[in-house]
Amino acid sequence: MNLKKQIADHVRDIPRSGIRDFFEIVQSMKGVISLGIGEPDFDTPWHIREAAIYSLEKGRTGYTSNLGLPRLRDSIASYVEGNFGIRYDGRTEVLVTVGVSEAIDLALRALVNPGDEVLYHEPCYVSYSPSITLARGVPVAVPTFARDHFRMTAAELEKKITRASKVLMLNFPCNPTGATQTREELEKIAALCVREDLVVLTDEIYSELTYDGARHVSIAALPGMRERTIFMHGFSKAFAMTGFRIGYACAPAILTEAMMKIHQYGILCASSTAQDAAVEALEQGAPDVEGMRREYELRRNFVVKSFNEMGLDCFKPLGSFYVFPSIARTGLASQEFSVRLLKEKSVAVVPGTAFGASGEGFVRACYATSHEQLKIAMSRIAEFVRETAAARAAA
Ligand SMILES: Cc1ncc(COP(=O)(O)O)c(C=O)c1O
Repeated sequence: MNLKKQIADHVRDIPRSGIRDFFEIVQSMKGVISLGIGEPDFDTPWHIREAAIYSLEKGRTGYTSNLGLPRLRDSIASYVEGNFGIRYDGRTEVLVTVGVSEAIDLALRALVNPGDEVLYHEPCYVSYSPSITLARGVPVAVPTFARDHFRMTAAELEKKITRASKVLMLNFPCNPTGATQTREELEKIAALCVREDLVVLTDEIYSELTYDGARHVSIAALPGMRERTIFMHGFSKAFAMTGFRIGYACAPAILTEAMMKIHQYGILCASSTAQDAAVEALEQGAPDVEGMRREYELRRNFVVKSFNEMGLDCFKPLGSFYVFPSIARTGLASQEFSVRLLKEKSVAVVPGTAFGASGEGFVRACYATSHEQLKIAMSRIAEFVRETAAARAAA
């Protein structure tokens, strides 16, 4: 039997994640400093781990309601109201998921009919385009540019809207660029969504991680948007809980019910241990989040300064824990830069093209790693840039 032929066309044709391939090389090497994987270097705060341990000790090991523990849903509703100014009913408008990853998948599968177009800004998180394809939608990238600090503009969005457009996906602060949106630009985007009757999926996973006093605004909080938006958030980044695999989606009851049906048959419920830990995170974790945020801000300052000093233009992003410097000056393409940097200097960054074609000419560096490691990594990258420039001058 030709097994390859048996695989559904839309699955077979999806490329593997560029990050995964790259990190298989990284794992086979010794002494590499990785600025690659987007994962906090902090351990999950101890009291949150303790809540998980205590949950197991008490034997809380059964299924929960499909929507999630009522106490967690209430905590999520209070947290979202307190931090984002959007009010959801914990009984009917909150669904606990296996990370934001599951929330994205559920939201797309609940909304998209074959052939519907789903718009998203690019460069963007690696899963967006494949998740749209898996939901049988058509991915439509809206380019963002370094000159705008990778903000999405309503003008670029408008150019890509057609009669088949149905959904807009947003992720600000952004992975991989660190971009954030201004309220003014978001208002213009929101007005377009209302005019064109688009549903918005907003991925808020980096919302707590903003710097220089920038206050994050969610599009769901703007007038007229709550009723057409699915607000997705989780614990992986701000609470350093990637391995717990826990997140949530908040939306008007009719959309929550649609997502819940897919979740109910496909997943049943999120882990009960992770749900108990998540309650502790939301109710007691704010000081930990603030401590990590401050540390990320210091690291961002150092990394941005270092890239600019070595001649690689890098704007100072106001959010997430990534920087997206231009490597155009080196004359190397993103993939070549990243592979050579890894081989010659044992530092891993991700080629910008892993986040879409418009990432060419850039690399993503994640600064969720210790200051000491960052210092060594930056001096190795500077050395690499100097050596490449000298080789070019001699050629
Ligand atoms: C923008 C974005 N959305 C979603 C995810 C996945 O999050 P989770 O661990 O909650 O599934 C990531 C992880 O890197 C991300 O960067």
